[in-house]
Amino acid sequence: MHAANGTSDTSCHSDTSCHDVSCDVLVIGGGIIGLVTAWRAAQRGLATAVADPEPGGGAARVAAGMLAAVTELHYGEERLLALNLASARRFPAFTAELHEATGLDTGYRACGTLAVALDADDRAHLKELHALQQRCGLDSQWLSGRECRRLEPMLAPSVQGGLRVDGDHQTDPRRLAGALLVACERAGVTFHRSPAVRALLARGRAAGAELADGTRIAAERTVLAAGSHSGRLAGLPEEVLPPVRPVKGQVLRLRIPGPYRPFLSRTVRAVVRGGHVYLVPRENGELVVGATTEEQGWDTTVTAGGVYELLRDAHELVPGITELPLVETLAGLRPGSPDNAPLLGPTALPGLHLATGHHRNGVLLTPVTGDVMAEVLTEGRLPAEARPFSPLRFTPALQEQPA
Ligand code: GLY
Repeated sequence: MHAANGTSDTSCHSDTSCHDVSCDVLVIGGGIIGLVTAWRAAQRGLATAVADPEPGGGAARVAAGMLAAVTELHYGEERLLALNLASARRFPAFTAELHEATGLDTGYRACGTLAVALDADDRAHLKELHALQQRCGLDSQWLSGRECRRLEPMLAPSVQGGLRVDGDHQTDPRRLAGALLVACERAGVTFHRSPAVRALLARGRAAGAELADGTRIAAERTVLAAGSHSGRLAGLPEEVLPPVRPVKGQVLRLRIPGPYRPFLSRTVRAVVRGGHVYLVPRENGELVVGATTEEQGWDTTVTAGGVYELLRDAHELVPGITELPLVETLAGLRPGSPDNAPLLGPTALPGLHLATGHHRNGVLLTPVTGDVMAEVLTEGRLPAEARPFSPLRFTPALQEQPA
């Protein structure tokens, strides 16, 4: 193991002359998943580096930050539910620890969620979801339309009923990313503000990466945490590249002026014409409206159609939103995996680990991902809660998990 801060160059930028450096752990990708992995690794005494041109960016710049383990439950995803719930339970302590480490508030808000139905089809869908939640032992309560409006008076009169889920909360992903960045810096993580372009291999092992600025970072363990881009790193054998793909989400940010507050007291969501729409009110007056789900490759264009659909559906749910200033439109790329679950831990290539494929749950899964990756990087094996999410599930011929 290298000493903490063991890299020989701590500020290798693309505008300086760069050279070979080394560390215990190189994390490729500085989104929230890469940052939490780096933070936890550095806390365990591993000399850790992150390669990313803009650490703290990525899909978290766009995400609404719902911690929706219960309201985003899907058939056949019970194992993912267990991981989601484990992570949701860690959020309060995780938030407090980050605050203690950085002095920064990450906007965690235990506000709950109300999922409502606007017509008979939506109602049938929500009733099925409620039955599934009950079978899974989850806490959710069916409310009439009147009861929904009593909780949230801005809801449309047409709301027919809904599910009150008091355990699905929110955090602010941008503030979370900012706090993780500071926590990493304070824990001694080295940042290389250049993208990794090629994996380095030595003696049949992953051995770090070469960056676009020419820096070569040698690492005992390499963690690929580049979100939807994780499957694109050159230099790796095809069979260990993660099967992740970009799933586009367009998101709007509105502002709730002081006189309109509280506009909504909790996250409100619905399935309208088959598409998910959610409104996430922040304490600072921001109202996040999301999100489209589009298989459009690497396209991150904000389209008139995407904005129209979000506003149309959100307006059906909460007519008063058309009074609010629209302050931002953005599109991001979720890292989708074949089973909608993350890929965590060792791959078939010794020395190469994955922390990617979090799809719709990247923010929610941040605390548990940090804990799992720290364990695997220090102890060499996945903790029991993460074993169903081994990348080796997509290479079933391989039974053993290399360290
Ligand atoms: N989890 C919300 C989304 O992916 O849109």
